[in-house]
Amino acid sequence: MPRILSGIQPSGQLHLGNFCGAVAQWVELQKAQESFIFVASYHALTTVRSADELRGSVRQIAIDLLALGIDPQRTCLYRQQDVPEVTELLWLLACVCPMSLADKGVSFKDKVAKGFDANLGLYTYPVLMAADILAPQADIVPVGKDQIQHVEIARDLATKFNHQYGEVFKIPAYRLAESGELLPGVDGQKMSKSYGNTIDPFQEEKLLRKRIMSIKSDSTAVDAAKDPESDPTFCIFRAVAGRNDPRTVELERKYLAPPAGGFGYGHAKQALFELLLDRFGEARRRRAELQADPAEVDRILAASAGRARAIARDTVERARAACGLA
Ligand code: ADP
Ligand code: TRP
Repeated sequence: MPRILSGIQPSGQLHLGNFCGAVAQWVELQKAQESFIFVASYHALTTVRSADELRGSVRQIAIDLLALGIDPQRTCLYRQQDVPEVTELLWLLACVCPMSLADKGVSFKDKVAKGFDANLGLYTYPVLMAADILAPQADIVPVGKDQIQHVEIARDLATKFNHQYGEVFKIPAYRLAESGELLPGVDGQKMSKSYGNTIDPFQEEKLLRKRIMSIKSDSTAVDAAKDPESDPTFCIFRAVAGRNDPRTVELERKYLAPPAGGFGYGHAKQALFELLLDRFGEARRRRAELQADPAEVDRILAASAGRARAIARDTVERARAACGLA
């Protein structure tokens, strides 16, 4: 059975972009594949400086993933820090990683341009991500479009290591969600924790509605035809409901040919608000239950950590032996 693996950084509240680009795929794929999902706490250390904040975010992301449907019976859900073997593998891979490959990494440049510290951890991040993927011998890595380059670096490093020392690593492939496009945020740019433009599917109802009403729109009149493709409200609706869902088809029709009485962006935003309450109603209830039962969350994470660690240890042992460290 192919093995899937993916991760998410605990560097802020999980948002609709994470859900549509990544988490929704994870929930689907876990039904038919062996699945490993982890909270990328070492990665978050590249930007998060408060220990309390990091501790809180790691737990919160784990709770949110469980609430959104990651099923601990099907998925090994662990914290990256519980598998320290990946940091040793990072070193073995760093030693076959040409500087020129690391220099190509767009995420380092992006984060530094956004004002984050240009630390060595941030620079090395794609190599750590390769270790995350290669340690459990993942076949498929379901991610959003912005992560494709990182999975390609993991493929390159696995190939280089295997070529140099003999077959140790499987060569992984990335997998994108249905639309493949990055979800826009309330300002129309890519939705991202570090742009302050996210929509949190767990936000309290009144604030959630206010947030949705703040999505950027143009000034086309209510009775005029509108372009759904260039409107963030429509793009978010379509990504959450699905392209072929009758509600998406109906909404698109109203954009293209407003009914008598007109159809404005306010109506579309109200429809998105109602869709989110419907789509995430169960997850919101489940999240409240999990928040009230931290011992259960700890139990799940501890049980998974053992399994993820055993697999990683096996790979790292083989990699050590291959390069002469046995
Ligand atoms: P962020 O950019 O907000 O820090 P992460 O880097 O933690 O998010 O991303 C976790 C997962 O969510 C990755 O697979 C990433 O590709 C996906 N993702 C993040 N933002 C978006 C978006 N706007 N649209 C689609 N997928 C996204
Ligand atoms: N870099 C990913 C992100 O920011 C998170 C991540 C870390 C990851 N390691 C991974 C995703 C391994 C997939 C596989 O979204």
